[in-house]
Amino acid sequence: DPAVDPAVVDALRAARRVLVLSGAGMSAESGVPTFRDAQSGLWERFDPSSLATQEAWDDDPPFVWAWYAWRAALLRRVEPHAGHRAVADLARLRDVEVVTQNVDDLHERAGSRVLSHVHGSLLSFRCRDCATPWQGELAVPDEPVERLDPPTCPACGGDVRPGVVWFGEEMPRDAWDAAVGAVERLDVGDVVLVAGTSGLVYPAAGLPAMALGQGAVVVEVNPQPSDVSDLCHHHVRDGAATALPALVAALEQG
Ligand code: APR
Ligand code: ZN
Repeated sequence: DPAVDPAVVDALRAARRVLVLSGAGMSAESGVPTFRDAQSGLWERFDPSSLATQEAWDDDPPFVWAWYAWRAALLRRVEPHAGHRAVADLARLRDVEVVTQNVDDLHERAGSRVLSHVHGSLLSFRCRDCATPWQGELAVPDEPVERLDPPTCPACGGDVRPGVVWFGEEMPRDAWDAAVGAVERLDVGDVVLVAGTSGLVYPAAGLPAMALGQGAVVVEVNPQPSDVSDLCHHHVRDGAATALPALVAALEQG
């Protein structure tokens, strides 16, 4: 198996709790494009503010709905990878909590149970006006289309919107409270695995620094440096689908 950093394995051995903070890079090897990284970054073609904001939605709901509906449909065709399964397996060896910025359900499908989505979920939809949840069938063509009329709310006829957090919007209170709680539950010597995030979007990007304040050992799992690299104690410069299984296997070898 690929070489693992013994210092990281030792840190995992000494830890009681492990907090996994995951971003889009955690889903990349499942075929879900990230936002900013050069190869597959979706934002390379779209400017986030033209899509992931309340203003963009108010301005042109069918344009924004088409993009999110296509991404939601994409999630039907992807599978969790060995890295997601390693995070779920790790929960058999340590007390694991997952805080993800991702809006997919790959961690859940791999078996992770203690999980919060601080940027919402692309698999939940609600009415833009009365917030009534919408559980209808998502009718999306296989290829991306420019515009698609969003469904209408059965309760009030308003437009249905995706359950993701837009830039400038409040994060779901319960998810953010769970994320902060997870950091506060860390003790000296516990480990934080920061996997697949550029560390650019706050307040989620502030969680690793908060974890440092708890005395945790912060480990970055990312082929590239990120905006939080400098505060990490260790850097595993590899993809999550390779690095995480290797670390868990090394930990299991005792
Ligand atoms: N394994 C681990 N990391 C990877 C992999 C991989 N196989 N492939 C890419 N990465 C890394 C990239 O190097 C980059 O640092 O994943 C990171 C992806 O960064 P972003 O695309 O910015 O995704 P993220 O950090 O999750 O964005 C944060 O911004 O657009 C908003 O709400 C959206 O939750 C998102 C937030
Ligand atoms: Zn409504």
